[in-house]
Amino acid sequence: MSFPKGFLWGGAVAANQCEGGYLEGGKGLNCADMLKGGNVSTPRKFSPVIEEGAYYPSHNAIDFYHHYKEDIGLFAEMGFKVFRLSINWARIYPNGDDAEPNEEGLKFYDDVFDECLKHDIQPLVTLSHYEIPWAIVTKYGGFVDRRVIDLFLKYAETVFTRYKDKVKYWLTFNEINCALMTGGGAYNGLGFVLPEDLENTAQRPVNELKDDPQKRFEALHNEFVASALTVKKGHEINPDFMIGCMIASMAFYPATCKPADLLEAQNKTDIINHFCGDVHVRGEYPDFALNYMHSFGVDTSFITEEDQKILKEGTVDMYTFSYYQTMTVSAENSSDSVGNLFAGGKNPYLEASPWGWTIDPEGLRYFLNQLHDRYPHTPLMVVENGLGMIDKVEEDGSIHDSYRIDYLRKHIKEMKRAVEEGVPLIGYTTWGPIDLVSAGTGEMYKRYGFIYVDRNDDGTGNFDRSRKDSFYWYKKCIASNGEDLD
Ligand code: BG6
Repeated sequence: MSFPKGFLWGGAVAANQCEGGYLEGGKGLNCADMLKGGNVSTPRKFSPVIEEGAYYPSHNAIDFYHHYKEDIGLFAEMGFKVFRLSINWARIYPNGDDAEPNEEGLKFYDDVFDECLKHDIQPLVTLSHYEIPWAIVTKYGGFVDRRVIDLFLKYAETVFTRYKDKVKYWLTFNEINCALMTGGGAYNGLGFVLPEDLENTAQRPVNELKDDPQKRFEALHNEFVASALTVKKGHEINPDFMIGCMIASMAFYPATCKPADLLEAQNKTDIINHFCGDVHVRGEYPDFALNYMHSFGVDTSFITEEDQKILKEGTVDMYTFSYYQTMTVSAENSSDSVGNLFAGGKNPYLEASPWGWTIDPEGLRYFLNQLHDRYPHTPLMVVENGLGMIDKVEEDGSIHDSYRIDYLRKHIKEMKRAVEEGVPLIGYTTWGPIDLVSAGTGEMYKRYGFIYVDRNDDGTGNFDRSRKDSFYWYKKCIASNGEDLD
C-alpha cells in the first residue's frame, strides 16, 4: 500500500504570517498586528497601541498580499494539490462587529482562490488562525463574551456563502488547544486579554499577560460552540463541505518506566490533545476535561444543556493537526524542552533544532495511530509539519537545505507506514512552503520554506522569491505520490 490516489499534498500558511498589507484594502487590526518581533531568547512583546517606528512583523510579513500570484504559481510548479491558508477575519469585518462585510477584503480572497483553482490547487481555509480582530479584543475581551460567537458565525456565514463554489475544505480554529496555555496561547487563540492588561500600555512579553481560568475556559467553551454552529451552518450552505478541527498535537512519552511517569504521560496526552479533540469529534466533554477545569476551581455550569446539544450536532468531518515534536514527562514535572506551544522534558534519544524542538518522525506515526484508534471513523490530515532553520544563501543564490529534505523525508516515510497500518490519512501540508514570519518568535530568520524570501528581521530585503534545493525534492515527492523520496 501507499498514499491513496488523490492524496492532498501541499503547504500551509497563515494570513498574519505572510500577507502583510496590514492596513490595505480596508483591513482592520488584529491581535497578531500588536505583537513585536522577538527571537529564541527574547519573547515577543505585546503593545495594546501601535508604537510608531517599532517593528511589528505582521505588518509587512512576506507581502503575500501583493505577491500571491507569483507564490501560487510556484506552489503549482511543485505540483501542490492543496494550499492551506487562513482568511484574515479583519479583512472581512475590520472591527469584527461591522454591519456589512468589506467588499475589498472579500474580493482579495476571490482573487486568491481563483488563482489556486486556475492551477488545480484546492484551497483549505482556516477561519481563525491567531488573527482575531483587535476591536473584538478591546470591546469584548475576545471569546470570553458570548456575543462573539454570533460575530464569528456571521463572518463564517459570509465567507461560506461567498466562496461555496470555490472552497470545499475548511478548518474552524487553528490549534484551538492553545487556549490551555495562559499568556500567548490564550491571547492568540481566544483574543483573551483582561481589561487591566489592555489599560496598561507598557509593552510586556505576551506570555506575562494575566490569567483568569474561569474566563479562559468559558472563552474556550464559547469557541467550541462557535465551531459547532459553524460546522452546522457550513453544511446547510454546501453539504459537500469538509469542515475540520485543528489541534496542536503533542505526543508525550513517560520519561522513565516508573508507573507514575506513565500516568503523567497519559494525563498530559488526554488534556493537551484529547480534551479539544473529543469535544470536536465526539461532541462532548470527556470526564478528564471537566476534572481538569475543576482543578482550577472553575465552575463549569457555562456548559448548558443547550450548548451540549449544539456540540453534538456540530461535530467535525475531519480531524487535522500540526505536528512538530514530542516531549517526555515525568511525575516530577521536568520542563527542559520547548516546542511550539507546550513545554516538557528532553528526550535523550532525539536531536533538536536550533530552537530546541525535538525531531521525531516516528512520533508522528505513533500519534496518527493513536488518533485513528480514538476516532476510528474520522479522516485525518497533517496540516502543519516542518523544520524551522537558518538557511545560507550561496554566492550564486542557491540554498542547499538538505537538513529540511531529510526532516520531511523521514516524516513522510512514517506517514506512509501509518497509512499501511490502516490510518485514513487524506493529506499533508508542510508548514511554511514559503518562508514566513514565525508565530512563536516573530522572526524571519527561522525559515521553513521550499521557497526563500529575501526579507530579514532588520526590515531589509526586497521580497524576492527563489527556489531552495527542497523545492525540487518536494516536487518529485508529489509527482510520485510520495514514492520517490530520494
Ligand atoms: C504552529 C502555528 O503552532 O506552529 C503556526 O499554527 C506556527 O502559526 C507554527 O508558525 C510554527 O511555529 P513557529 O513559532 O516556528 O512559527
